[in-house]
Amino acid sequence: METVTRIGVSLEPELLRSLDNIIKSEGYTNRSEAIRDIIRKKLIETEWKEDKSTVVGTITMVYDHEIGNVANKLLHIQHEKHANILASTHIHIGEHKCLEVITMQGKAKDIRKLADRLKAIRGVLHSELVTTSKTI
Ligand code: NI
Repeated sequence: METVTRIGVSLEPELLRSLDNIIKSEGYTNRSEAIRDIIRKKLIETEWKEDKSTVVGTITMVYDHEIGNVANKLLHIQHEKHANILASTHIHIGEHKCLEVITMQGKAKDIRKLADRLKAIRGVLHSELVTTSKTI
């Protein structure tokens, strides 16, 4: 079992107040849990910036399948980049609208490029890349 190390952190009063506001508004039960999450977020940001390791992430998108052959274009790109795609979930959320979540793995630069290509297709109404990590 992993052990934890207790550390002391010195903060200016204003910064501590801001931290405590985050803890309160986001429902953390203690400062340690909030600080751990902030550190993990920073580590993921760095991992995606450095582009050295294999990262994981998801793209969540909403599109209108009636516009410009969008579903076929999305499918074509996913087949082309199958090595980066772990899974996809397609949900019909309305008569014309689809919600799709694509889980990806690979080099950060490749995943971002893929997310940008998918987002730029006509008919995609909203698309967000969520960046996360296998190593945190
Ligand atoms: Ni659909």
